[in-house]
Amino acid sequence: MAAQKQFLLGILVGLTVAFVISVVQMDQQVHPIFMGRPSGDELFIGEEAFERDDHEAWDRSIERHGPGIMLDIHDEHAHHDDMSEARRLAKEVRVLVWVMMSPNNMQDKARVVRDTWGKRCNKLLFFRSETDENFPTIGLNVSEGREHVTAETKNVFRYVYEHHLDDADWFMKVDDDTYVIVENLRYFLSNEDTREPVWFGHHFKTIVKQGYYSGGGGYVLSKEALKRLYEKGSDPKVCRQDGGAEDAELGRCMETLGVRTSNTSDVMGRSRFHCFDPETFLFGGYPDWYYQYDTNGARKGIGTMSDYSITFHYVSLEKMLVLEFYIYHLNAYGIINGRQMLNRAPFKSQKVYPTRI
Ligand SMILES: *[C@@H]1O[C@H](CO)[C@@H](O)[C@H](O)[C@H]1NC(C)=O
Ligand SMILES: *[C@@H]1O[C@H](CO)[C@@H](O)[C@H](O)[C@H]1NC(C)=O
Repeated sequence: MAAQKQFLLGILVGLTVAFVISVVQMDQQVHPIFMGRPSGDELFIGEEAFERDDHEAWDRSIERHGPGIMLDIHDEHAHHDDMSEARRLAKEVRVLVWVMMSPNNMQDKARVVRDTWGKRCNKLLFFRSETDENFPTIGLNVSEGREHVTAETKNVFRYVYEHHLDDADWFMKVDDDTYVIVENLRYFLSNEDTREPVWFGHHFKTIVKQGYYSGGGGYVLSKEALKRLYEKGSDPKVCRQDGGAEDAELGRCMETLGVRTSNTSDVMGRSRFHCFDPETFLFGGYPDWYYQYDTNGARKGIGTMSDYSITFHYVSLEKMLVLEFYIYHLNAYGIINGRQMLNRAPFKSQKVYPTRI
């Protein structure tokens, strides 16, 4: 009896100690990120941190992710990947990606984005509608709500132009549930010229004459496009400043500014930007509107998506971690992937012109 009591007491003490330790550790992990920077400052700036072997950051993001998700991946083995090409492109094709945060579950989402695909960007910025003392994303000074997304987007691009024009060659907008394969974004852009008035994304053929791009699938502006949007797009006589659907309004504005859309499929006609998740593109089940909107005929199946796909949308936090595992960790032994040339024009030795406007 006494031995049993002692045993139970022992367990209780053990559990208490473990609990205290875990609380203390959690505290330590969260603070440097969210409290360590002044409010209103930019958060999470990833510079060339795209180590495939950065397991620590990866595990941390899983731990922080909380009890809802029980991903127990301890993947300590070494990779032997040749990343020289990706590293080279990371220097030559610099991408700034900004994430429009929705209010729900913002901290978890920002952490997971930062610790997964976000760390591979040259510059990563998070924006939300209002500055929050406890969460130092950049406030947009626009009231929240769907009807103001157009104004928010305009404000962000203005901010990016004024503060980060020289930090990148290309400027991309995504939602907080968009997953970006940054290496493939750079590969696609390496074939394009940022001095041209162009932008890219998942193309919709309706509403705007030259079409426009899905907001959730992410779209990326050249420096010249950003410049035109900044210099002329803020004139209410040229572009509507608020209201409407954000992506279609921006599409109208871009057309007025002479910024061209184009076909972003790979050389085999397969899509690279995706306004839904991979499952939807594999199995179909699209909403009705999509059949009218999609430029490439709302096709489905494994053969319709590029091997160098760039974005997927409606990706939950769990799925971001899953994609991270599939794309950067899981391999079939004995198969060494060869490089494919999937850009439309003949591969131009990936030379990117000096970007000066
Ligand atoms: C919003 O206003 C604050 C304070 O005036 C300013 O620091 C910040 O840069 C503004 N945000 C944008 C996106 O202009
Ligand atoms: C886009 O380009 C691909 C590859 O050249 C082609 O197969 C496809 O038909 C094009 N799509 C449109 C809508 O022109």
